[in-house]
Amino acid sequence: MPKISVKIDDKDLEVEVGTTVLDVCRANDIDIPTMCHLKGLVDVGACRLCLVEVEGTSKLLPSCTTKVQANQVIHTQTDKLKKYRRMITELFFAERNHVCSVCIANGNCELQDLGYKVGMENVRFPYLFQNCEVDSSHSKFVMDHNRCIMCTRCVRVCSDVEGAHNWGIMNRGYQVRIIADFNVPWGDSTTCTYCGKCVDVCPTGALWNKDATQGSMQKYPQAVSDLVEKREMKS
Ligand code: SF4
Ligand code: SF4
Ligand code: FES
Repeated sequence: MPKISVKIDDKDLEVEVGTTVLDVCRANDIDIPTMCHLKGLVDVGACRLCLVEVEGTSKLLPSCTTKVQANQVIHTQTDKLKKYRRMITELFFAERNHVCSVCIANGNCELQDLGYKVGMENVRFPYLFQNCEVDSSHSKFVMDHNRCIMCTRCVRVCSDVEGAHNWGIMNRGYQVRIIADFNVPWGDSTTCTYCGKCVDVCPTGALWNKDATQGSMQKYPQAVSDLVEKREMKS
C-alpha cells in the first residue's frame, strides 16, 4: 500500500493511503474521544465527538470517517475542539435521563468516562426529562431507552456481525428511538438470536443482562472487535 505524509499535532507521520484520521491517531497514541466508533464496525459518524481541525478547511471533520490525504496538517486538541467535545457530552446527558448513581452501568460506562475525560462539571443545557420506555419483554436482556445515546453500535453489530437485523431506527430528532423489528417489544422479535452482541457493544446502561444489578453490568466491546478481526483474517 503506498504511503503519504501527514502532520497530526506535533507529529510528522508516514501513513498508508486510505487510512482514517482516527486510525492514524490511535496507532500513534493521539487520544481522540469517540462514542459511536467501535473497531470492527462500519463507521457512521453519528456522535461527532471525534471532530478534528484540518488546515485549509473551515469545517470540523469527523476523524472516524475522514481519510487522510497527502500533506494534510491536522489538529486534534485545540481549545475549539475541546469546547465542542464538552458541549456534545453535556447534550448527551441533557437529552435523556442519566442518573448514574442508580444505573446498571455505573462505574462501567463509556459515557460516564467521557464526562470525566472532557472535564464536565455540570450540564449547561436544559434537561429534556423525556419519558422513555424501559423494555423488559426479552427473556435475557433489557433495553432502557433512558440511557440510549443513539450511537447505533447495537444496530450495526446486529446487522453486520450477527446478521440478524433485529435493531433499527425510528423517528428523528429528540424522538428518535432504537426499535426491535418493526417496533415490537424486544421479546416479540422474530429476528433476535439471543447472541448478546448488542449488549456487549452498547457503551452505556441502555442494554443490559436481566440478571445484572445496579453498577454490576460489564460490557465487552473488545470481544466483538476481536471476533471481526478473526473473521477478516480467515477470509
Ligand atoms: S448510562 Fe452511563 S452516564 Fe448514563 S446514567 Fe448510566 S452510568 Fe450514568
Ligand atoms: S442501545 Fe446502546 S448501543 Fe444501541 S444506540 Fe443506544 S447507546 Fe448505542
Ligand atoms: S466516533 Fe466519529 S463521529 Fe462518533
